[in-house]
Amino acid sequence: MSRPYVVTISSEKGGVGKTTLATNLAIYLKALHEDLPVTLLSFDNHFSVDRMFRLGRSQPSGSVLTLLTEKETDRLVETGEYGVQYIPSSSELSSIRDTIATPSHLAEILAASSLQGILIIDTRPDLDIFTQNALYAADRVIVPVKDAPSLENCKHLYDFFDRQGLSRRPLRILPCLIDQRIHYDGPFRDPYQLLKAYAINRGYRCLEGFIAKSPKVESLNTNPEGKIYPVLTHGRGTDVHVQLSHVARQVYLSSLDKEERRLEEVARAEGLKKMQREEAYALRRQKLASDCLYCGAGLVNENTIENAGFYCETSDGKASGFIEETCFSDLVFSHFYQSRRAIADASPLRDLFRESAQRSYFVLRRAPNTRNHYRQQLSFGRFDEAGLEVSHKVIDLPPPEATPSPLAPLLKKTIMNGDGRLGNAFLLVRRICADVAEEILYDHQYTKFQAILNKISTQLPSE
Ligand SMILES: Nc1ncnc2c1ncn2[C@@H]1O[C@H](COP(=O)(O)OP(=O)(O)O)[C@@H](O)[C@H]1O
Ligand SMILES: [Mg+2]
Repeated sequence: MSRPYVVTISSEKGGVGKTTLATNLAIYLKALHEDLPVTLLSFDNHFSVDRMFRLGRSQPSGSVLTLLTEKETDRLVETGEYGVQYIPSSSELSSIRDTIATPSHLAEILAASSLQGILIIDTRPDLDIFTQNALYAADRVIVPVKDAPSLENCKHLYDFFDRQGLSRRPLRILPCLIDQRIHYDGPFRDPYQLLKAYAINRGYRCLEGFIAKSPKVESLNTNPEGKIYPVLTHGRGTDVHVQLSHVARQVYLSSLDKEERRLEEVARAEGLKKMQREEAYALRRQKLASDCLYCGAGLVNENTIENAGFYCETSDGKASGFIEETCFSDLVFSHFYQSRRAIADASPLRDLFRESAQRSYFVLRRAPNTRNHYRQQLSFGRFDEAGLEVSHKVIDLPPPEATPSPLAPLLKKTIMNGDGRLGNAFLLVRRICADVAEEILYDHQYTKFQAILNKISTQLPSE
């Protein structure tokens, strides 16, 4: 499947003609090649795209907000005027600003879609997370500049590409809103020549040509119908018509390049990451002890994990496995909270423990400063979701000559050395969802578990 060629229109300056360029470019590309699918979306909330392309009054099935939250593209694409496809705009984008963690979010969604042809993305005059996402996905970035200050702002775009480790090759400056009545003496005869010289001097590459300022073009979005008219249909007599055709032809020709498209690159990297995630998961799954670390009942089979209540892993990564739900509460109550009578499975105390265990991490380790003690001591700590200690308890283990503690099998399989002494590693225990025990080994949850493990490691005194 070939993926779309993505053109992002971006500049940190407002009013430089981004939206006018994005919307008209879509129409000129369609005029150039009728069969070419051209799709447009905008992260701007002025709804120009919708006003220009929306046909009829039917309720759209979503917007750019849905695209980013539900990660689905295909059902959102509407067929609009002039044969241009578009994804409706949204005025609610700011509500999800903090939920988009990376600039690659949009590229990953688009790479998984079945969009074809050319996709044009219009952005807000801001290098916010939405613009960053649009830049990250782009094969071509057109940066309209209308004066020296807007050209200075381009530096931030170039810096963004550098910071992301992306090639600067997609970036092209396009002087826009050029007042053709202005002429200078000297080597640069007009604002276009001057801006182009500034750009080249700073190492920026330019598209060929420019877009002139035209009162006719300016008038196309002010009319009693509340519509926005395209230059192609309503401004044919203007220089801008010729200039936009020229820009469209350049975009079209560069879309024919044989180079790998950005979204193909993103899809390839995603595929690789997925494979690595799967391999890492398979390794973690393989390493698991097959029996309950406390009572020895079989829990982990080749295909299923049953009755697992708590996941455990040692801080040195050498041992991992599960403990049954009741085994762990038995262990806690009988060894650390000294309840003489067995606490019934349905007792409120157990319920309380179960409930608080959802939000806790537990740590078993050699009690601090007892490494050389003849009589070993074991510490049991409860930590909160942020990895901060809430409480802890220390118990004596039986002396070497006495009957071993019922905890011995668990300790031997995890934090005890071959000589029967507790080692330096600790055991981290986390309650899991019994129905999908494997979930704790999936990338997302496992990364969180490891982050807590590392955080607790740094808090514990080393001996
Ligand atoms: N070539 C042009 N000549 C005259 N006015 C233009 C031209 N291009 C855009 N405009 C006008 O400039 C204003 C800003 O354009 P717009 O495309 O919305 O810029 P941006 O998206 O960068 O904010 C609009 O009123 C638009 O009609
Ligand atoms: Mg705009």
